[in-house]
Amino acid sequence: MSIKNEVTEKSTNININPKKSTGNDLFDNIIGYEDIKKLFFLSFESQKPIHVLLVGPPASAKTLFMLGCMKLDRSYFTLGTHSTKSGMVNYLFEKRPRYLVIDEIEHMPIKDQTVLLSLMETGIIAETKHMKTRNTQLKTWVFATSNATNHMLTPLLSRFMVLHFKQYNFENFQDISIHMLGQEGIGRDIAAEVASQVWHKMKSKDIRDCIKIAHLARSKPDVNWIVETIQKYSKASSFTAKSNN
Ligand SMILES: Nc1ncnc2c1ncn2[C@@H]1O[C@H](COP(=O)(O)OP(=O)(O)OP(=O)(O)O)[C@@H](O)[C@H]1O
Ligand SMILES: [Mg+2]
Repeated sequence: MSIKNEVTEKSTNININPKKSTGNDLFDNIIGYEDIKKLFFLSFESQKPIHVLLVGPPASAKTLFMLGCMKLDRSYFTLGTHSTKSGMVNYLFEKRPRYLVIDEIEHMPIKDQTVLLSLMETGIIAETKHMKTRNTQLKTWVFATSNATNHMLTPLLSRFMVLHFKQYNFENFQDISIHMLGQEGIGRDIAAEVASQVWHKMKSKDIRDCIKIAHLARSKPDVNWIVETIQKYSKASSFTAKSNN
C-alpha cells in the first residue's frame, strides 16, 4: 500500500505507518530542495528536538516532506483539519511518539495549537479529565506544514524553525514536471509541452495542473486541445462571456 493511500484511508487523527525507514531515502522522491533535506537530517540527529515548519504555496512539496518524515520510526501523522485536542493528547500519552508530523497545521483549532506550546518547549504534556490530572514528559520533534502563518499562534511560530518555500520559477517547474511525469512513463516531449502550456498559457504555477493534463494527453496536439478546452470553460472566461453579452 502506498503511503498516500494510507494517509487518505486513515485520515482522522494520528496514524502509524508500518513501513518505517531509518535510511537516507526518506526524501528521494522530492526533486531539488537539497538544503532543506540536509536541514531535516540535521534536525533528526540533533540531541534536542528542533521543530521545523514548512510554509509555502500549493504544490511546493510540503506534504511530500511530511510523508518522508512519516517513514521515520516512532512517527505519528495528523492533519490539522482532523486533529482534536483530546485525540492528540491521548496519542501523545499512549504512544509517546518521537516525531509528530502535522500537515496543514494552520487549520488546527487555536485551542489545540496550545497543546503544542508546552510539548515543543519543555516536552511536558498535561491533561485533566474527570477531576484527574495526568502529566508526562516526552522528547518529541514536531514537523509541520502550512500555506500561511496568519492563523497560527505567535508563540507557536517562535518554537519552530520556519522555512518559507518560494514559488517555483519556470525552469524548476518544467524540470519537476518532466521528472515526475517521467516516473509515470510519460515522455519528456509531452511533459515539457504540458509544463510550458500550463505555465505560459494557463498562467498556472501549480504542478497538479500538469499532472491532470498529462494523464489525459496522448500527444502534443492533445495537450494543446486540452489546455484550450480548460481555458474555454475557466471561471475567468465565463465571466468575460457574461460581461460581453
Ligand atoms: N520538488 C518536487 N519534487 C517532486 N514532486 C513535486 C515537487 N514539487 C511538487 N511536486 C508534485 O506536486 C504535487 C503536490 O505536492 P505536495 O502535495 O507536497 O504540495 P504541498 O506543498 O503540500 O501543497 P498544498 O499546500 O496544496 O498542500 C505532488 O504530488 C508532487 O508530485
Ligand atoms: Mg499539502
